Amino acid sequence: MTDRQAPAPSPDDAFEEVLLYLKESRGFDFTGYKRTSLMRRVRHRMGQVGIEGYGDYIDHLQVNADEFDALFNTILINVTGFFRDQEAWEVLRDEVVPALIAERGPDDPLRVWSAGCASGEEAYSLAMALCEAMGPERFRQQVKIYATDVDDEALAQARHASYTDRELQNVPPDMLTRYFEPQNHRYSFRKDLRRSVIFGRNDLVQDAPISRIDLLVCRNTLMYFNQETQAKILGRFHFALVPRGVLFLGKAEMLLSHSRIFDPIDLKRRIFRKIPNGSGGPQPFIPHSFVHDRRADVGGLDELREHAFSASPVAQVVVSADDVVALVNQQAESTFGVSAKDIGRPLRDLDLSYRPVELRGYVEQAKVERKSLRVKEVEWTRGPGEKLWFEIHVNPLVGQDNMILGVSVVFHDVTSARQLLDDLEYANRQLESAYEELQSTNEELETTNEELQSTVEELETTNEELQSTNEELETMNEELQSTNDELQTINDTLRDRSTELDQVNEFLESILTSLRSGVVVLDLQMRVLAWNRGAEELWGVRGHEAEGEHLLNLDIGLPMPELRPIVRQALADPAFSAEVQVPAVNRRGREVMIRVVCSSLHANSGQPSGAILVMEQQQL
Ligand SMILES: C[S@@+](CC[C@H](N)C(=O)[O-])C[C@H]1O[C@@H](n2cnc3c(N)ncnc32)[C@H](O)[C@@H]1O
Repeated sequence: MTDRQAPAPSPDDAFEEVLLYLKESRGFDFTGYKRTSLMRRVRHRMGQVGIEGYGDYIDHLQVNADEFDALFNTILINVTGFFRDQEAWEVLRDEVVPALIAERGPDDPLRVWSAGCASGEEAYSLAMALCEAMGPERFRQQVKIYATDVDDEALAQARHASYTDRELQNVPPDMLTRYFEPQNHRYSFRKDLRRSVIFGRNDLVQDAPISRIDLLVCRNTLMYFNQETQAKILGRFHFALVPRGVLFLGKAEMLLSHSRIFDPIDLKRRIFRKIPNGSGGPQPFIPHSFVHDRRADVGGLDELREHAFSASPVAQVVVSADDVVALVNQQAESTFGVSAKDIGRPLRDLDLSYRPVELRGYVEQAKVERKSLRVKEVEWTRGPGEKLWFEIHVNPLVGQDNMILGVSVVFHDVTSARQLLDDLEYANRQLESAYEELQSTNEELETTNEELQSTVEELETTNEELQSTNEELETMNEELQSTNDELQTINDTLRDRSTELDQVNEFLESILTSLRSGVVVLDLQMRVLAWNRGAEELWGVRGHEAEGEHLLNLDIGLPMPELRPIVRQALADPAFSAEVQVPAVNRRGREVMIRVVCSSLHANSGQPSGAILVMEQQQL
């Protein structure tokens, strides 16, 4: 026997291996995507990490946890924009939306699904288009836009609802002002309208569709899938739509094999209406049971199951995929007043749909996101003074082929736990407020203490200042003291000098007075400085009358014209001295002969400072 080696896998087979690996290890099924572009993208990624063969790339995927995300980002193309393909949006605005609004009553909901919504621009474009037509009030009340994608990163961006100038370039300026709020160089979609847009992850290949949709927008997404997968997805879209629901595809997308079930409204813009099934209503997706059917093994299983459900101590209601009440247990009956008669009615017709909590939103969310939800701390006042608390669990029931069968809503009564919690909270609050009081007293004390401290510090500073002022004053005092001492000394000296002067004066005066001759002392201006007793006797003019007067102005019996020249000479020449005899008339009016000696008065410097006249009466 010859050893025969298995043939090397063809590149296509090797590529399929990669897809299979991704499906099995990460649960993501790319097998329904068109091969050419898919292969190009995978090879592009392999080039980026420097890998040639698909086998090596699988190894690389196995050891690098982040590689899947990178590959995923390369494969999924998130290119999108507001009002992408303007003409198609104009048809939607002018024809489709008005028709959809006209078809429903003022309270009927309008359900929209943007499938493959990428970073949300399409969903918000839909919101704006509908809001323009209905007004914000009606929009908020009636419209729900479900926006789904398989790319979590794109969904996170979409939920953020924040876009740049560039991303918003296709939004007309007046709409930009009305629907977006500027925020840090970006624009955020209005919050009150944003609430009507619900984002969720939905894989068009694997997940069940959202139901009862009036307008289904799936643009530029179908084209990535091969024909078979497109057909499968279109079948689901048909199921998702209400009987005359509208399907809005991308401009490059065709309804290849499904023209039987969709009617074109505008073929060029790829807008279609669903052709309802023969029966009129939507054909439900009936999943194959995923439980191995062993009912035959256990007798009366249905009855047993029904009793078990009904007898559960926890209130529970189950609604079908199209929101019709399917099961109600006893506890739900006694707590909420629903009964077996409500089975088969739409959930929205029951008080339970909005009391104790607005249930429909949660039911819808559980279906869209396929996740169990827990609504905590639901408060309900059943009657006067009767307050109940619930924790509500909303669980989507998913069938074997991943279809939503319905939703189970379980109401856990947590009233007693809540009361205990309330009591604890109350006690806690009391403690907290006591603590706060203590805290505030403490703080007040601390403040007072701080104030005191600062007052003490201020006082200390003032004290220091006073101390230093005091020291300065003391220094000044000492200085003053010494100045005073000096002054005292000067004063004493001055007094001594004054006494001395007085004595000299007295001495001089006594000389002048004792001289029998008349003595007159003149200053340089010829004013009388001294006038002694002899002069008084001679001329009859008192000393105090003469002193200060000009000699020539005195009314005395001396012949002044004769005297003036020698007085002038004495005033000019320090060495001058002259003697003259002149006839005169004395104080008694008798003619007398007077001898006058006129000398220059000069200081130590030698300069003349006045003149001295000594006058004596001659015996005739
Ligand atoms: C080119 S974008 C289109 C966005 C938008 N509908 C538009 O027309 O502007 C295609 C989107 O389809 C999404 N997608 C790809 N495969 C998907 C799948 N299996 N299920 C859901 N979305 C998918 C991608 O993540 C991407 O965001």
